[in-house]
Amino acid sequence: MNDIATDRLTLEPLVAAHAEEMFAVLCDPAIYEFENQPPRSLEWLRERYSRLESRRSADGREQWLNWAIRLPTAELAGYVQATVHPDGVAAIAYELSSPHWGRGIAGEAVCAMIVELAASYRVHSLTAVLKRTNHRSLRFLDRLGFVAATHELHTRHEVEPDELLMVRDACSR
Ligand SMILES: CC(C)(COP(=O)(O)OP(=O)(O)OC[C@H]1O[C@@H](n2cnc3c(N)ncnc32)[C@H](O)[C@@H]1OP(=O)(O)O)[C@@H](O)C(=O)NCCC(=O)NCCS
Repeated sequence: MNDIATDRLTLEPLVAAHAEEMFAVLCDPAIYEFENQPPRSLEWLRERYSRLESRRSADGREQWLNWAIRLPTAELAGYVQATVHPDGVAAIAYELSSPHWGRGIAGEAVCAMIVELAASYRVHSLTAVLKRTNHRSLRFLDRLGFVAATHELHTRHEVEPDELLMVRDACSR
């Protein structure tokens, strides 16, 4: 995995050494308004990041790629992630702490990750699953050119009734 540089940001391949800084970022309750919960403890997060350093699912079939988002101030803002399937489809996700919302940082980070996924991991299609109530994430994906998947794709991906599957080509921008 490579570091990725953008105008304002550096995306750093996530390692166990990020756990302490990232724990503080991920304890922001605003992140979990619609789903998920903060990390259980610093030790839990360090152990999780340590496992993620393998960059692979347990069966080795999927590439699990995570990057920490570093600001010019040297602070971390959050992370972006991609699960790359063998067929060239990548499921993406992102979490930034609320002081860093509304500045285009998430968009800059996700767009840079998508360029890297297409260039280095042969990704041609992107998916993202979100809670239907997560209006911020929906607006975010909409701005990035994602559209709601067909009913058939929702069924094939076993998307829960309260969730929405959004899709986009990796090279459409
Ligand atoms: C979803 C999430 C990533 C969206 O973050 P965001 O900051 O709204 O997204 P962007 O980085 O695209 O920023 C766009 C906003 O910045 C503003 N902005 C300011 N400067 C900007 C710039 N230089 N470039 C682009 N946008 C800029 C835009 O006007 C826009 O604000 P608006 O939504 O009020 O119109 C963020 O809310 C988040 O991390 N939420 C919690 C975790 C979560 O829900 N994850 C998704 C689970 S599916």
